[in-house]
This record gives sequence, C-alpha cells and structure tokens, in this order.
Amino acid sequence: MVELKVGIIGTGKRKVRGDAMGYGMAYHHAAAYSALGNCRIVACADIVRENVEAFAEAYDVPSVYLDYNKMLRKENLGMISVCTWPHLHAQMVIDCAEAGVRAVHCEKPMADTWGGAKRMVEACRKHGVQLTFDHQRRFGRPFRLARELVKAGEIGDLVRLEGSCGDIYDYGTHYVDMFGFYNDETPAEWVMGQVDYSKEKLIFGMPVENHSVYL
Ligand SMILES: NC(=O)c1ccc[n+]([C@@H]2O[C@H](COP(=O)([O-])OP(=O)(O)OC[C@H]3O[C@@H](n4cnc5c(N)ncnc54)[C@H](O)[C@@H]3O)[C@@H](O)[C@H]2O)c1
Repeated sequence: MVELKVGIIGTGKRKVRGDAMGYGMAYHHAAAYSALGNCRIVACADIVRENVEAFAEAYDVPSVYLDYNKMLRKENLGMISVCTWPHLHAQMVIDCAEAGVRAVHCEKPMADTWGGAKRMVEACRKHGVQLTFDHQRRFGRPFRLARELVKAGEIGDLVRLEGSCGDIYDYGTHYVDMFGFYNDETPAEWVMGQVDYSKEKLIFGMPVENHSVYL
C-alpha cells in the first residue's frame, strides 16, 4: 500500500472549557490520518513551540517546525492539513500548492474574503492540487439519516432550507454546506438573509453577527 507523507500546519493545543476538554482541529485530523493506515504524519508546524512539540509527542511526529514555509521546503509532503485561523487559510493553501503538495485538506471556513477563496482555487487548479474543506457533517450519521428520510418521502417534500446559528461567517459555513447536501447540490434560485450586528462580536478576530437568519 502506498504511504502518503502528511504535514500539519497549525497544530493547536489541548483546550479546557469549564469542565469540558477539547483539542484544536489538528488533533482530529491526526486521529483520522492515524486510523487510515496508509498515511503517516511526518512533519508539523506551528508558531507556538509548546503547541507543536505537544502535538509531535502525541502523534509521534519526527519533524517539528515553527515556520511552515520551511517545512514545505524541507519535507517532500504528499498531503497537508491546514488547521489555522480563517484569515490565514488562503495564503497557506496557495503556498502548499506552489510547493508541490498534491492534496490539501483545509479547515472551514474556506477564507475570510471572496477574493482569497478564488485565489486558493486558482492556485490549486494551476498546480493540479486536490483541495478539500473540513465540512465533515455530511459524513455524520444523524445528518445522513435525515437526508435518507427526506429522500424516502418520510418527511414530505423539501421546499426550503433555512439556517440560523449566530456565527454564519465561521461556524455557519457548516449550515451552508448542508444546504447543498440536502438539495443534491442544486444551485439556489434565490437567497435571503438578515443579520443583526448591534453589539461587537469577534470570532478568530473577525466580526460575526449577533444573530442571523438565511433562507
Ligand atoms: N470542522 C469543524 O467542525 C471545526 C470545529 C472547530 C474549529 N474549526 C476550524 O478550525 C480552524 C482552527 O480552529 P482551532 O479551534 O483548531 O484553532 P486553534 O487555535 O486550536 O489552533 C490553531 C493553531 O494555529 C496556529 N497558528 C497560527 N498562526 C500560524 C502560522 N502562521 N503558522 C503555523 N501555525 C499557526 C496557532 O498557534 C494555533 O496553535 C478554524 O478555521 C476553525 O473555524 C473547524
């Protein structure tokens, strides 16, 4: 079996929220690569030394970097996970594509601007890179079951898709992705949205709404 050499950009860290324990998304990507059997994480990069070293220890990763561009130059990577904050995704994906990586799996949301999103796609097309985003809900059992029930006519006809989450810019991209999942990727004929931004609210340093609804 061919072994794919994987690199991670943005290892994150173990997080404690009240009584709950969580991890940066890179830990979830790493668990999936490990489960696959034909992938090996050979390098990881983060600007915070303690983050990258803890991740390397957790997943037995031989090479650590504080500069992802150095990792791209030194390691001959087949695939990269980009698990950093949204405003960094576009440039990092472009750098991976230009460095000769064959596939990039990037965290959602795609980018913080429409221009950034287009530049990512252009770079990956030009260099023949497979670019995917981590909208994992379409693989989750409850979401798939709901789709099966709609398709079987158990719920009735699908006439409209609505979303509301209080953070359409970051978390809300899952909702928009699910719209395509439930309507067989049929392009929208019309869309409507309302946003309330009466108080400042920042997620990953970017302004997001206090409340929104989109149809
Ligand atoms: N798919 C999902 O369900 C899901 C869930 C949560 C978060 N996310 C997304 O994952 C992304 C990361 O979120 P997180 O919670 O894992 O963040 P995090 O803060 O835990 O990890 C991000 C890491 O990126 C590192 N970083 C920042 N700048 C860097 C640089 N220039 N080079 C290398 N590393 C750098 C940070 O030091 C940090 O360790 C976000 O885009 C978020 O929206 C997705």
